[in-house]
Amino acid sequence: MQMREGMIPSISKEEIDEMVAGLAREIERDYEGKELVMICPLKGSVLFIADLCRKVKLSQIVDFVYVTSPKLESCRIIKDVSVDVQGKHVLIIEEIIDAGRTLSFLKARLMASHPASIKIVALLDKPARRELPINPDYVGRTIEDRFVVGYGMDSEEVGRNYKDIYNFAQ
Ligand code: IMP
Ligand code: MG
Repeated sequence: MQMREGMIPSISKEEIDEMVAGLAREIERDYEGKELVMICPLKGSVLFIADLCRKVKLSQIVDFVYVTSPKLESCRIIKDVSVDVQGKHVLIIEEIIDAGRTLSFLKARLMASHPASIKIVALLDKPARRELPINPDYVGRTIEDRFVVGYGMDSEEVGRNYKDIYNFAQ
């Protein structure tokens, strides 16, 4: 496996599984009897949504969107959602929130299609990095301001396939 120098194990696969199971239980409780549209912003959230959607035992539609958020430019859509979210209960399934740019853009865009509700599920949250007022409605774990890789998250495309999450020494 290709590893980068200075990577420290941070969250194990077992801990990730527990976090995902906990989030699934909360979602099942809050959306009982409802149909969900789970939206996965590519690419980092792919493993998270794959695990979460299988644990949430509710009727659901899964869809994907690909938004880039380069630091100095505004967000750009590479692939838009393909499902009509009007009147639907939407959950955005994000693996990590950093500055909040991607979610701020995506949430506003989805809101324009008049969903019945829209909430954010984040596996990890780095509130110290926030630039825009976006907060997850469901969060697996709040972490300090360190770059993480693994479980879908990458450093220049390295690390997405790691089963555990690592961070970099400061
Ligand atoms: P934001 O728009 O700044 O909140 O960042 C959104 C996206 O940047 C996340 O969904 C990730 O895909 C990526 N990202 C932010 N922080 C990290 C990190 O620590 N490791 C890997 N990817 C990250
Ligand atoms: Mg992401």
